[in-house]
Amino acid sequence: MNDLAGKHIVLGLTGGIACYKSAELCRALIKEGATVQVVMTEGAEHFITPVTMQALSNRTVYHSQWDAREANNMAHINLSREADAILIAPASADFMAKLLHGRADDLLSLMCLARPIESVPLLIAPAMNREMWAHPATQRNVVQLQSDGAQVLGVGVGEQACGEVGDGRMLEPAELLQELVAFFQPKVLKGQRVLVSAGPTYEAIDPVRGVTNLSSGKMGFAVARAAREAGAEVTLVAGPVALATPRGVQRIDVRSALQMQHAVQAEAGEASVFIATAAVADWRPASMAEQKIKKDGSGQPPTLSFVENPDILASLAQSTRARSGALLCVGFAAESEALQANAQAKRLRKGVPLLVGNIGPATFGQDDNALLLVDEQGTRELARSDKLSLARQLVCEIARHLKTDFFQKT
Ligand code: C5P
Repeated sequence: MNDLAGKHIVLGLTGGIACYKSAELCRALIKEGATVQVVMTEGAEHFITPVTMQALSNRTVYHSQWDAREANNMAHINLSREADAILIAPASADFMAKLLHGRADDLLSLMCLARPIESVPLLIAPAMNREMWAHPATQRNVVQLQSDGAQVLGVGVGEQACGEVGDGRMLEPAELLQELVAFFQPKVLKGQRVLVSAGPTYEAIDPVRGVTNLSSGKMGFAVARAAREAGAEVTLVAGPVALATPRGVQRIDVRSALQMQHAVQAEAGEASVFIATAAVADWRPASMAEQKIKKDGSGQPPTLSFVENPDILASLAQSTRARSGALLCVGFAAESEALQANAQAKRLRKGVPLLVGNIGPATFGQDDNALLLVDEQGTRELARSDKLSLARQLVCEIARHLKTDFFQKT
């Protein structure tokens, strides 16, 4: 994908061992379509050379406010006026303290102070030892920087270069990339709380076997990511899948349909939107054998009996909150034929205002999909594309539904 196509990012590096990750970050930004101008402090140059950053960004690196390459000798003005965003990664404790006071004795701090605050966002990825991060001075500075209009992206937890373990690591390049991409997405779900169900369920037959399906969870995870990018607070109830949690999304792992129902019901009271992408098993074994069911040599397979699982979506769509318009329920339908007719019928049967149809065998496990949106007005096709792009389009459609009279928040 080219989520940063046309964006010009000023990537600022300050002194910290996390500078080694900024090389990877620079590559990732460029791969995503951005152009990158690197600006380094003197401290950063102790950790990584400008040569590395120049080679990766394909632009000469700036570090001095006296840089004679600029005809007007105002690198701080010129560089900040060209930027769509300034990302400081890593941001040292000292640099954050400096920004906070509006000090400007090197090019990077000068440029941050000189940036047009309304049009050039400043994103900060702190990196420091856990004690430095936890220090009241740093925490105070984070709060103040945020109220001065910067976005502080948070830190990772884990082993630190100093050998200690805790908060304060710089976020990984892939996480920072996700944050930057999210930053540029329109905030059409700001203020909403979105609950998403995703993946298959697993219905145990005995301790080693069960009934499941081929849902990979990719569409649901993409929907959760897109909703978070659009400014919503997102909870993702996930069946057994091997996927990374999208940044900023709260994830609850479940296995069976009953567990999924329990988790969804517990979260639904707080939600304003429920998007049911999960491929919930229709039936589960009537009882789970406590021990592994063994062959008995007779050649007779065991007889399994099944009971129907509750319909999580239909029962939520029937709830008082959904009927009063406080909870917008969106369903998915994985069909194998006659998509339009089946999806329209399913929308009515489930009692949901918006149903998203797709062809199951053509999407399970794939990275792309094609969707058919079905609502009261009719149907609309979303052409085959990667799942994240489709999820973003779906999120816009959901935002449009939220704006209609019926779904105005009570
Ligand atoms: O009936 P069907 O399984 O085709 O319906 C699909 C839609 O209903 C999806 O949105 C799915 O997440 C939801 N569903 C559910 N609970 C079930 C079965 C389906 O929430 N037991």
